Amino acid sequence: SSEFKIAVIPGDGIGHEVVPEGLKVLEAAIEATGTDASLDFTHYELGAKRWHETGEALTDQELEELRGYDAIFFGAVGDPDVPSGVLERGLLLKMRFGFDHYVNLRPTKLFAGVESPLANPGEIDFVVVREGTEGPYTGQGGVLRYGTEHEVATEVSVNTAYGVERVVRDAFARAQSRRKKLTYVHKHNVMVHAGHLWRRTVEKVALEFPEVAVDYLHTDACTIFMVTNPSRFDVIVTDNLFGDIITDLAAAVSGGIGLAASGNINPDRTAPSLFEPIHGSAPDIAGQQKADPTACVLSAALMAQHLGLDDVAELIESAVEKDLAARGGAIRSTSDIGDALAGLVAG
Ligand code: IPM
Ligand code: MN
Repeated sequence: SSEFKIAVIPGDGIGHEVVPEGLKVLEAAIEATGTDASLDFTHYELGAKRWHETGEALTDQELEELRGYDAIFFGAVGDPDVPSGVLERGLLLKMRFGFDHYVNLRPTKLFAGVESPLANPGEIDFVVVREGTEGPYTGQGGVLRYGTEHEVATEVSVNTAYGVERVVRDAFARAQSRRKKLTYVHKHNVMVHAGHLWRRTVEKVALEFPEVAVDYLHTDACTIFMVTNPSRFDVIVTDNLFGDIITDLAAAVSGGIGLAASGNINPDRTAPSLFEPIHGSAPDIAGQQKADPTACVLSAALMAQHLGLDDVAELIESAVEKDLAARGGAIRSTSDIGDALAGLVAG
């Protein structure tokens, strides 16, 4: 039997409400499938409270400790009483960068029974491979003449040949095992340095995947198609910031961020991957059991898949499918949905 060590970081706000439901459903699925694996969860209290107490979001020592786990299960980050960026950079991005999560995987699917805000959504089933370690997220840049009328703020997008190529190759491989269609999204009509590096890289890696049809969209045009014809997408690969933006839109057209899961993946497995719902800490509804834990539960399925527990992942997904199909307009609490999913998993 295999034992997996999982670090659990609920984080802030609704993270504390959805994470227990994700774990509940995951454990129920392991039990129901009779999978010969055990998960050993270690909880970390990181986030706003801890930052207020110590001034630290995540120490270097904790980062090194987390490196020893098989995976990290994360809730949400962000708090209105902490300056914007402190926890995001100090906790979540520190792990994404520190653990080389270069594939930020964001599957988008319109499940049966789920209402899309689009009048004619058609079939929506695509994955966004968002680059996770470069682009405008690295913190390069700075401020000159701070606070004066002549202040200049730059936010530099870093794109390396190595970093772009590895994520593009990963996306091609995913397209190859899906419907064999890859759309790369950038803005090379304006961002001519980074954009053309992406273009050349896609053209080069495409030679290794002759069966995959490739097309290109400027990011702005991509947002149009995501609303007018989302069925055209199979795999999308894009940079860190464009990927952040289009995956919120992708979530919106496929039933909302309450359903959108993600994996921050280190495909080389040199460090633990991290699984989290795409949504944030939602301070406006935190503590009220109003959050939909489905995104978190689906993130647990992605984690199971990453650990090689494919039956567990499939069972969780089919439970979510059933629950969504039966849901109608009913409003249920966070734990009611978690209990329902655990029940469906148990059969
Ligand atoms: C996301 C979030 C994060 C991001 C924030 C919280 C740093 O919006 O996971 O999409 O911008 O990547
Ligand atoms: Mn985001």
